[in-house]
Amino acid sequence: MRVAMIGTGYVGLVSGACFADFGHEVTCIDKDEGKIARLNEGQMPIYEPGLDVLVARNVEAGRLSFAVDGREAIGAADAVFIAVGTPSRRGDGYADLSFVYAAAEEVASLIDGFTVVVTKSTVPVGTGDEIEGILRRARPDAQFAVVSNPEFLREGAAIEDFKRPDRVVVGLEDERARPVMAELYRPLNLNETPILWTRRRSSELIKYAANAFLAMKITFINEIADLCEAVDADVQQVARGIGLDKRIGPKFLHAGPGYGGSCFPKDTLALVRTAQDAKAPLSLVEATARANDARKRAMAGKVAKALAGELAGKTIGVLGLTFKPNTDDMRDAPSLEIVPALQAMGAKVQAYDPEGHEARQMLRGVDFKAGPYEALEGADCAVIITEWDEFRALDLERVREVMRRPLMVDLRNVYKPEELRPRGFTYVSVGRP
Ligand code: UGA
Repeated sequence: MRVAMIGTGYVGLVSGACFADFGHEVTCIDKDEGKIARLNEGQMPIYEPGLDVLVARNVEAGRLSFAVDGREAIGAADAVFIAVGTPSRRGDGYADLSFVYAAAEEVASLIDGFTVVVTKSTVPVGTGDEIEGILRRARPDAQFAVVSNPEFLREGAAIEDFKRPDRVVVGLEDERARPVMAELYRPLNLNETPILWTRRRSSELIKYAANAFLAMKITFINEIADLCEAVDADVQQVARGIGLDKRIGPKFLHAGPGYGGSCFPKDTLALVRTAQDAKAPLSLVEATARANDARKRAMAGKVAKALAGELAGKTIGVLGLTFKPNTDDMRDAPSLEIVPALQAMGAKVQAYDPEGHEARQMLRGVDFKAGPYEALEGADCAVIITEWDEFRALDLERVREVMRRPLMVDLRNVYKPEELRPRGFTYVSVGRP
């Protein structure tokens, strides 16, 4: 199959490279000339484990190419994927669909012969209808079907998630699209991945409902963690105890500083807006978004409490700035709330993150260090915000030696209290005694 992928951001690039690896002929298109030039030189615009190797292999095999001008690829494609960003619209939380509609206009002018136009971007219910309208108005003569095929990739594990998904969801209104979509995902038959065929609107909603549910699950365990702290219980034991119930499941029950990233914060807000407009409000999702925002802000208070409320003149060593490990993504990262709040209370912050280079532009007044021990040098308190593997087995003797005082606030429960306390640390974690 010939595939044109519009947008070489996170989703477009990973999906394009994986489709090429399945054996399809893929062109990834992006208006950003610099990005395309760098991709053509083998440089990845994002940090995602394994992506560089996957891209190189498929470019080498002649199945994957990159272009600024989509004319040729879109004209020749069996399927054109729209995988552009749908950021939160400033101020009101609605998804900004301007990039999606601009891509649809471009596709309309270029398709040739029957083409399946697939929305991979996360878009509110009814966007497929809008795209169909754009195409129909621009090209009353054209043969096309508009399909919704949301992605469920996690940053840091995106290739694995694409190649071994729990399910593939395809929403369509025109049966002509089914054989094309089935052929695109045929390699997944090998591992018996369920393909769920739905109506287009259901598919659009599945994406938001899935993300909102996961966000809600995290927020639930975060609130249970607060309760554990208040009543002297252990959130990890509670999570395990409820997670063994198959109806609940063990995943997404790790208490922490609140969820971040490019998806949960924006998708929960957009879903809330859709529901309000449809006069079917989602009060649980509204409460989730509110509780998560408040939680991120509250985390600085937890650090202050560990230092007996006295942050002025104190040095805090922060480990981890990205919204989760194995990504360089800083979008809506808890660190963006926590670090400025610590500074506002008078603390000096020195920090280290293996990939969060963008933090240098986003966080003012932070002393960025080259490694974890450097970040903890002379610190009155260590704060783990992101659970990178390299923070899991720190040399604790060395940590204690370099720090001014052995105090650790572990917002990801990386360590166990019984490991730290015998070594002389004062140790504060999330939802544990
Ligand atoms: C999320 C979904 O997991 C993907 O299925 C979805 O495709 C993607 O959004 C998207 O819509 O594109 P992602 O944002 O990459 O993926 O990251 P997650 O691994 O889901 O983590 C999100 C946030 O929740 C992180 O800040 C993480 O630290 C936090 N989290 C996650 C917890 O605090 N506790 C947990 O138990 C799990």
